[in-house]
Amino acid sequence: KGYSFSSETDTEVIAHAIDFAMKSCSTFISSVQLAIKSFSGSYGLGIVSTKYPNQIIATKKGSPLVIGVGKNGNYIASDQIALLSVTKKFIFLEEGDVAVLKIDQITIYDQNGNLVDRPTKTSKLKKGQVDLGNYDHFMQKEIFEQPQAIRDTLESRITNDSVLISSFGYKAEEKFKHAKRVQIIACGTSYNAGLVAKYWLEDIAKISCNVEVASEYRYRHPILLNGTLFVTLSQSGETADTVEALKTAKIINSNISTLCITNSDESSLTRLSDLTFLTHAGPEIGVASTKAFTSQLVSLALLVCSIGKLKNTINKDQEKRIVDGLKRLPGLINDALLQEMQIKKLAKRFKETNRDLFLGRGTMHAIAMEGALKLKEISYIHAEAYPAG
Ligand code: F6R
Repeated sequence: KGYSFSSETDTEVIAHAIDFAMKSCSTFISSVQLAIKSFSGSYGLGIVSTKYPNQIIATKKGSPLVIGVGKNGNYIASDQIALLSVTKKFIFLEEGDVAVLKIDQITIYDQNGNLVDRPTKTSKLKKGQVDLGNYDHFMQKEIFEQPQAIRDTLESRITNDSVLISSFGYKAEEKFKHAKRVQIIACGTSYNAGLVAKYWLEDIAKISCNVEVASEYRYRHPILLNGTLFVTLSQSGETADTVEALKTAKIINSNISTLCITNSDESSLTRLSDLTFLTHAGPEIGVASTKAFTSQLVSLALLVCSIGKLKNTINKDQEKRIVDGLKRLPGLINDALLQEMQIKKLAKRFKETNRDLFLGRGTMHAIAMEGALKLKEISYIHAEAYPAG
């Protein structure tokens, strides 16, 4: 169309496409609505034009985008955490929505161009949860938040000696009872948590379990039998591969039951799943997942107990032992964290290595994988996990 490009990013194509649409449309919004019809793939866009200086147009498909409703202006971001210093009121857009933001007005159209009303929700996040406090960096802060994250994740999900199945949703009992097998889908750290759960599900709940990385699952033609409980695990609830794998699964077999275990209550996974279990780990800002991982493990332990109870593979004493163990976890983690100085000394010894092996057996193989992933992500030292056997 005669446009010349100054970058190699796909984002630039979007800007030119909207500019081109403006030639045949009378308003800013109609040009955006026309242009996005030709887009494929996922996007979360904030669009400004010198011709319309008093507005921002926001639209999303497959990527997170949230509108912050402020007293002195309105805002967009990919995550509510980024806007907490200016507002606690948020509107979550649905797929294909197009919103026009002015300083004192927000208008939203759905993907068919109809004017719609999306609810404004008040975030429960507190500012202290997203401040660094006395820590050197967010990863350190979040490692130290693990005891609280686990306490919060267990809160009102267990009684003195048993697990409340209803914390997975009011239809959970019926869906878990009918489950003949479990398919877990996740990426990265969440995938490693899923690998631990496989051992537990098969050992304790005696139910067959497969775990697969979402980016593999979504691009192949998997067989999905009736009676499958399809579990997605994700801190953010927005990892594109995990979301797409869930959508793919629902197309392959619409009879399956779906559960997501996530740390984000307003996410694509929660909207797409029959059942939702929220890890109450609080916002995870550090790049490397830490407290979300341990909170996922606790959530998965509750899932295993719930299925085991319904399938009579565990009795009351065994359930109580598991619940007691979970309750002791925050204290045990605190004890481990008291060793920070010794751990720092060891880290100095290891920092000169350039390849590291993490060995483990059983669930500890999955933990070794998580250890290797953490080392690679944070230090760029090559690491590999291997089954100790
Ligand atoms: C690891 C890490 C990533 C995520 C992965 C999945 O420390 O942060 O590997 O675990 O991108 O993210 P979620 O759990 O949000 O789906």
